[in-house]
Amino acid sequence: MELLSEKALSFSRSFITEVRDASDMQSVVARYVDLKRAGPHLYRGLCPFHAEKTPSFTVNTRDQFFYCFGCQTGGDIFKFLQLASGKSFPEAVAELAEKAGIPVPRDAFITRDEDRVAAEKRERLRRVAARAAEFFRAKLWSPEGARVLKYLKERGVDGEVASLFNLGWSPEGWEELSRALLSEGFPREDLIEAGLAKAREGAAGGLYDVFRGRLMIPIQDADSRTVAFGGRIVGEHPPETPKYVNSPLTPIYKKGSLLFGLPQARPYLKAYGCVYIVEGYFDLISLHAHGVKNVAASLGTALTQTQVNSLRGKVREIYLFFDGDRAGREAAKKALPKLLNAEIEGRVITLPERHDPDTFVREHGMEALFALAEGARNVMDHAVDYLLDAYPGTLIGQARAVREVKELISEVPDSAKGQLLRNMFSERLGIDPELFKLSSAKAQEPRPSPPARLMDPRVQGADFLAARILRHVVIHPETAPLLKGLSLYWPEDPTLELFREFQAQIARDGQVNVRDLPPLDDPLLLLVSEAALAPRTAASEEAAAVFREYAQRLKRRGINTALSRLSVKIGRAEREGDLEALGSLLKEQRSLTEEKKSLGSPAAAGPPLFSGEGGPPPPRFNP
Ligand code: UTP
Ligand code: MN
Repeated sequence: MELLSEKALSFSRSFITEVRDASDMQSVVARYVDLKRAGPHLYRGLCPFHAEKTPSFTVNTRDQFFYCFGCQTGGDIFKFLQLASGKSFPEAVAELAEKAGIPVPRDAFITRDEDRVAAEKRERLRRVAARAAEFFRAKLWSPEGARVLKYLKERGVDGEVASLFNLGWSPEGWEELSRALLSEGFPREDLIEAGLAKAREGAAGGLYDVFRGRLMIPIQDADSRTVAFGGRIVGEHPPETPKYVNSPLTPIYKKGSLLFGLPQARPYLKAYGCVYIVEGYFDLISLHAHGVKNVAASLGTALTQTQVNSLRGKVREIYLFFDGDRAGREAAKKALPKLLNAEIEGRVITLPERHDPDTFVREHGMEALFALAEGARNVMDHAVDYLLDAYPGTLIGQARAVREVKELISEVPDSAKGQLLRNMFSERLGIDPELFKLSSAKAQEPRPSPPARLMDPRVQGADFLAARILRHVVIHPETAPLLKGLSLYWPEDPTLELFREFQAQIARDGQVNVRDLPPLDDPLLLLVSEAALAPRTAASEEAAAVFREYAQRLKRRGINTALSRLSVKIGRAEREGDLEALGSLLKEQRSLTEEKKSLGSPAAAGPPLFSGEGGPPPPRFNP
């Protein structure tokens, strides 16, 4: 997918608004979440941003906001795409623009420099990687690739599978790729940063290829874009040369950040409901060649939490299908907390020692593989067996097992899950659960802060009352015209921007409409998203009464602030004997005091502000 190219990566408000209006929130979200209708314009589903069993993720399709009442994540369509796919803001905008057929302007107004520069660079590196993949692919299918195709055939990989994975061949020469890409105008720095070439020592500007004389395996991200390569030596190799050369860490690829083969597997995951996770490049390619399409590879023994999370919502169950050696069994055990965190069931296929999935399926065939899968054990049972096997029942053995179990439990932030794990291990290993309690350091590490109270509209750095009023207006838009009287008292804080937008909308349309707001920055975006999904809590008259109560508090507070500032000034004027100033200050003081009186005293308890809302009690401000 070619996005952006050298086009600008941040956009004017009007462009962003145009893209948003042309995009359909429901269908974008539906790519990641199974949505169920829950009311007019309201959909509900399992949150893609935290593990849950009952849906607290909601989408308002009329106003185009989402909010999860479980993890308090919310935002608009761009924010959703950013969080769901790891894209930057400009990338999310550009993707939706492209989908909607809106040309991305070259001279787009630049708003966020850092984002823009970083996203631009990533995009450039992806273009280099894509071009390199094409270069390698062409070499494989040229006469010089014949030997490699033969090697692939010997390993059971035919042309169709080679094409599916876009396999290639990097020529033996030292600078074939570099020279070709430089001559096409790709910048030297990009070749180096993409991990494809290195600078020659001494020779100014000289480059040499990182991958030479290797079967090239492109690694693609979740959007099927090539981001890295693995290169395998073809045939026998001297022990001092590594079997595989891999791309280094680059701005577009981090080891463990993605699952190899996921784009090719994706169409099959829903149908099977499960996925095989293997370790190596060829384990995956070989299984594919044998018709097992729901397979992905971790590329490195330890399955990461990010990799597991990328399968959330796609499969119910993961089959860990690692090598038959001790390292493979250990890797499967290490996956236990990650699977528990993501709430995906895990089973472990145990291969005979000396086999990996590739050699096993080639030697024994598919039926034997399915028989193994049939007998796969639950990952918890596997972990217990592993520990019992690795550590004898001696004191020292048990002490080591305790240490390992604690390490596993420490990876589970959810305390209920952690306790379940502790009880389970205690029972199965016959060890007192107290011993698995995480001591000092680990236990006191700052846990992810507990979710804020439901419906708490606190906006970082913002005035609580001001945020409450704006939230109230979003939930009860008929009260919006009442905002008009508040300009003088509105605090100078992050809510001011939204307050001004609402005022402008009222002046223009006589009402507020959150759907038409310009793109908002984080704290305000969250405030509006939560409010857009919050249930209406009051009838119109009641809502207006609640608004007035808020407004009174805001005014009273504004007046009090002004009065205390005045009294400082009055004191100074008195000391300095500035009678003229004193006169006008006292006049101001009188009129403010009058105004304060006219507001009346604060209602003793106030109206039932949030009846039925389940939220915190309204804040108390000292008048
Ligand atoms: P293996 O040595 O088990 O290789 O390494 P393999 O996958 O079975 O490869 P074939 O079948 O011999 O072609 C497992 C994984 O470890 C990484 C690769 O991701 C490989 O797929 N590896 C291995 C390297 O990165 N470099 C190496 O030199 C070896
Ligand atoms: Mn192998």
